[in-house]
Amino acid sequence: MLTNQNIVQPINDTVGTSARMSLKEKIDITRLPQHVAVIMDGNGRWAEQQGQVRVFGHQSGVTSVRETTEAAAELGIKYLTLYAFSTENWNRPKDEVDALMELLVYTIHAETATLNKNNIRLAVIGDTDSLPDACRKVLDEAILNTANNKRMTLILALSYSSRWEIVEATKKIAQQVVEGKLQPKNINAELFSAQLNTSLFPDPELLIRTSGEQRISNFLLWQIAYSEFYFTETLWPDFDKEEFYKAILDYQGRERRFGKTSAQMLQQ
Ligand code: IPE
Ligand code: IPE
Ligand code: MG
Repeated sequence: MLTNQNIVQPINDTVGTSARMSLKEKIDITRLPQHVAVIMDGNGRWAEQQGQVRVFGHQSGVTSVRETTEAAAELGIKYLTLYAFSTENWNRPKDEVDALMELLVYTIHAETATLNKNNIRLAVIGDTDSLPDACRKVLDEAILNTANNKRMTLILALSYSSRWEIVEATKKIAQQVVEGKLQPKNINAELFSAQLNTSLFPDPELLIRTSGEQRISNFLLWQIAYSEFYFTETLWPDFDKEEFYKAILDYQGRERRFGKTSAQMLQQ
């Protein structure tokens, strides 16, 4: 007869243990990307699927922003860039643009205390001069109020497009040449990077795009030269911590070669 005593308990049940491990526990925190960038896409389709107006999707996407920010900070990621509004998004219907700007003002204002509580600094990239005054004001306040936070930098890309950023950087460099402060022969990749909005941040090692679209939509073209791309069918309002962990785990399974051979990378 089988009693409790003669059931042999496996001592080294590694397979069982790994199956039981949560996604978060499977992440190797010694090999995290320093900077993750996200193209938050699919709010409109998500709302339409629920028979709701597109703005409802944008409102629901705020929860995913919160979840992703928290997940990244808890893991120990140092920079998180979220593409919230592109230069091209100004071409959407006025009602949607106005609602997005209102949502931005409300959310930034409401979340500043949480950012401070979690020791997260807010930064922005993009043509902020083109934003409505109320939006710029609340952004400036939040950036100032969180300036001393050290755990993670949350970078919002607002009225951002990479071609705009590259053209602006080129103008600044050309001006230095005209003023005789810079010689064309001294222009290099490092000098160029220093003129971009992202000059203070490392390039993202990982770029995530939700909603099944597999394109870049004018986002960080210069900075993603060697980023790993992760595309998921999940629509942005359904993206949560578990989805973020899946992306990090996928990234950790990649071999980043930077032009070298696999054998060379293994020797390092
Ligand atoms: C992303 O969701 C949010 C912004 C671009 C502001 P979309 O609004 O692009 O949603 P879809 O792509 O139409 O579903
Ligand atoms: C990219 O999404 C911009 C943001 C996520 C803010 P879009 O939905 O605007 O991109 P396209 O138009 O489908 O390429
Ligand atoms: Mg979209």
